[in-house]
This record gives sequence, structure tokens and C-alpha cells, in this order.
Amino acid sequence: MSYPRYICTICKYVAEGPGGGDLAVADLAEDFQCPSCGAARSAFEGCQCESYPLFEASKVAPAAADAINAQASLAAIVMQYPPRAQVFENLGIDYCCDGGRSLAAACAEKGLPVLSVALALAAVTNKHETVERDFSRMTLEEIVDDIQSIHHQCLRREFPPVSKLVDKVAAVHGASHPELLELKRLFDVFKDETLAHIDEEDGEVFYLLLEVARAESTITTEGARLEDFLAEHKADHKKIGRYLARVRELTGDYKMPADGCASYKAMLSSLENLEKDIHLHVSKENYLIERLNEEHCSVFAKC
Ligand SMILES: [Fe+2]
Ligand SMILES: [Fe+2]
Repeated sequence: MSYPRYICTICKYVAEGPGGGDLAVADLAEDFQCPSCGAARSAFEGCQCESYPLFEASKVAPAAADAINAQASLAAIVMQYPPRAQVFENLGIDYCCDGGRSLAAACAEKGLPVLSVALALAAVTNKHETVERDFSRMTLEEIVDDIQSIHHQCLRREFPPVSKLVDKVAAVHGASHPELLELKRLFDVFKDETLAHIDEEDGEVFYLLLEVARAESTITTEGARLEDFLAEHKADHKKIGRYLARVRELTGDYKMPADGCASYKAMLSSLENLEKDIHLHVSKENYLIERLNEEHCSVFAKC
């Protein structure tokens, strides 16, 4: 079948037939690569008319990708504009525990062209008209306040009802879905450890972090104490990331089974929302630590 044009599903580049005429995908050479992002011929889809949504998206100038610095860390890119997190979620790129990697390094690991990912990130920025908070312009106090008032409150509010839902679904469907019994055991530990983790952050870590930032280079003892705390917390974040990965695995990427019920569906969507919130939460904390290191490096013995 011929189409008037083909569009690269990765970066939205539009390939037209000679003279704007019809073109079959077979007309494209086997080793054809997108001139914009380098994607293979298989990434192109036939496009019938100009109202094709991706065609509209192609009007996003590739120059918009320039606003994304490929050498910036994934955490910094998300913190500049948090809705960008969805692009990394969709591509399965860990921007949370491994958020310290540069965009270029993360793309190389996944075998993705940097330009196409940068375009996708730039497109998110273009699509959202509401003003989002730019974390790179926020003070450390404001970032801590955001984490506590949004994410810590969310976890304290959401964990108990989600936990009840997991218990209920495991009790009803555990016989036909034995993986739910493991999910229940795992979720109990995950919930207790995560709540203990945020209690420690609210009770001690954030307070010490802001004290150290305020005192600049004069209190290296506290700096060293904070360093130990932060090392512990980074290890906790990795562990939380592993719990989330296992929850995703046990639920088959939150896929509803044929014999599932309304509670099953509610459980899956609650778990998926929890995962998204925790990814963004941990990403913000990793960014907070990155900023502390950049701005107050002199208080740390090992800097
Ligand atoms: Fe936290
Ligand atoms: Fe944390």
C-alpha cells in the first residue's frame, strides 16, 4: 500500500514521495534511516492526510531539542520540568535511582538516538501550557518543602488504602493467582520500610541537610554526619526501586487478568500511580543531593 507520506514515529520527521507523490514503504531503501534521528525504516508509519496527529507534531521544530542538554543528568532534566518524567517512564529509562547519568549515557545504554529522545522531551514542554515549578530555580528549602508537602503526604495518605486493597485482592484471587500472595508479603515490607524512610527524612535528614547548607563550610562534623545519612538514603532508594520493579513484575506490568474484578483493577491502577509518584519523589531527592553537592561541596570531607 502506498501513502502520500511516511512519518518517523520516533522524531516525527516526514518522508514524502518524489514530488510529493505516493510512496510505498518498500520504496524506501532497506537501509533507509531517518535523516533527522537515525531511526530504521521500520520506525516509519504510513500517513494518510495532513491531520494525522503525528504530522501535526512534526511541526515542532527539531531546534526545540536544543533546549535539552544531552550532558545534563536525567534528574536535572526532569527537575527543570517534572512532566518530562513521563517520557522516561514510557521509554523504560530509570531517571530515579540512576538519575545521576547524563541523557546521552542513558540513551546509549538503551540504544536510543539522543536527538529523538530530546525531541520527545521538548515536545512535552511544548504541549503543557500550565506553569510547572522549575526546580532548578528553587532554593533547597523550597525543594524540601515540595517533597514533604506533596510526596511524603501522598505516601502517608495512599499506603494504608492501597495496602488494604492488596490484602483483599490477594485473599479473593490468591488461589488462582499465587503471585498475589508474594505481592502481599512484598508490599507489607515495602510499605513499612518506605514509611520508616520518609519518617527519618522528615525527622532528621532534611533538617540536618538544611542546617549544613546554611552553615556553609564551618561545620564539617555535621557535613560528615550528613554524608553518612545520605549514603544510607541512597542505598534505601535503590532498595525501594527494586521493590517497585518486583511489584511491576508480579503484576505483569499492571496488566488486568481476564478473571479480574473491579477491586483488582483498582489495585493495579493504585500500584501504578504509586510507582510513578515514588519515581518522581526519589528523583527530586537525588536532585536535591546533587544541588547540595554542587552548592555546598566544601562542607563534605570527601568532596
Ligand atoms: Fe522522601
Ligand atoms: Fe528518600
